[in-house]
Amino acid sequence: MTATRHPNLWPPFTQMARAAMPQRVTHGEGALLFRDQGDPLIDAISSWWVTLHGHGHPEMAKAIGDQAARLEQVIFADFTHSPAEQLGVRLSGLCGLQRLFFSDNGSTAVEVALKIACQWWTNRGEPRHQIVAFDGAYHGDTFGAMAVGERNLFSAPFEDKLFPVARVPWPATWWNDEEIEAKESAALQVLETVLETPTAAVILEPLLQGAGGMAMVRPDFLKAVEARTRQAGALLIADEVLTGFGRCGDWFASRRAGIRPDLMALSKGLTGGCLPMGVTMASETVFEAFVGDDPCLTLWHGHSFTANPLGCAAANTSLDLLERNPGDFEGFEARHRPRLEELSRHPRVQHPRLTGTVAAFDLVVDGTSGYLNPAGPKLKQIAMDNGVFLRPLGQVVYLLPPLCITDPQLDHCYDTILAALDQL
Ligand SMILES: Cc1ncc(COP(=O)(O)O)c(C=O)c1O
Repeated sequence: MTATRHPNLWPPFTQMARAAMPQRVTHGEGALLFRDQGDPLIDAISSWWVTLHGHGHPEMAKAIGDQAARLEQVIFADFTHSPAEQLGVRLSGLCGLQRLFFSDNGSTAVEVALKIACQWWTNRGEPRHQIVAFDGAYHGDTFGAMAVGERNLFSAPFEDKLFPVARVPWPATWWNDEEIEAKESAALQVLETVLETPTAAVILEPLLQGAGGMAMVRPDFLKAVEARTRQAGALLIADEVLTGFGRCGDWFASRRAGIRPDLMALSKGLTGGCLPMGVTMASETVFEAFVGDDPCLTLWHGHSFTANPLGCAAANTSLDLLERNPGDFEGFEARHRPRLEELSRHPRVQHPRLTGTVAAFDLVVDGTSGYLNPAGPKLKQIAMDNGVFLRPLGQVVYLLPPLCITDPQLDHCYDTILAALDQL
């Protein structure tokens, strides 16, 4: 054991030969994380894009505590409970998809959406096999989710176990992008070609690919994708694991983009980021194909913690908070804009972009760009030394803070990045 390695824990996405010892966090409050050593840190990425209302939120904590004292867990195959029922009614009202299937995280929410889409065609007696996904996509780390994600360093050891997927370019855009029309029309051409093969479903991250580098697309592109998907009779799956619950400035990115998916995967902000839970929303038309006397029509899928009451209570309380203060997410873009404009004038900044609560840019780097470029880790360290927790994706730097971040805290994040750019 080296001094930098914990004897028992195996952290995610971490090469332990090189990683620094993880820092111990003792508590959180609002946008701040408190460590057992060092100053508090502003959590500028919402702890992997989950924390919505801030750490240690009293109303969230109370709702979870009250629910724990009442009913912490019950098998969801033979029973139901009111937190789940309430959540079903509220989410279907908000996203326009009537059926809610529970699972445990973002990857499982995507797996369930893929399984539903494939079985839907089988149940109708006209099996379709092709799934269409986008370059740069990230949908999670379970096998089905990996299969539809971009094949890369992360998925390489499993390549032979991943089902084939038809790929379409993702026309990522940014401020003053002069090539966008050409990129979009090239992508749509590829989409039209792949859709000539009977397709079960098209899956995408609406408006914003997260792990793929905070890569944003225009709403009209998504509308064009939806139109072609409908024309081909395929189902449209929106992976809103990251983009849901206000992250993109509206309740859902699909809603902001003006598209209506058949299936939607949700997680992360679902419980305000307090507890692990995923849901897959499905239209009633999709659901109906699973109802009938033949046992083969059944969706034979479930998880031990399906509809965990604590998760449902947290989700209902998070919705209360969002409904009470919609301005918190609707107005976030305006908070980012002037500071991102200022950043965008720095010579080390290119491709500034913004949607809702998420602001991003690419560092101008020496050498090969990509996830392993060292500029990101350098900037991360400088920010950490200045009380800001960032986690660049290679040369992509982004801010994705909790809604509760104060103006001075947000300003401090931008000031820190600006100062760090001069030190790189
Ligand atoms: C768009 C998207 N889908 C799915 C996932 C996977 O979610 P989880 O990490 O909860 O399995 C993520 C995680 O970052 C994501 O960003």
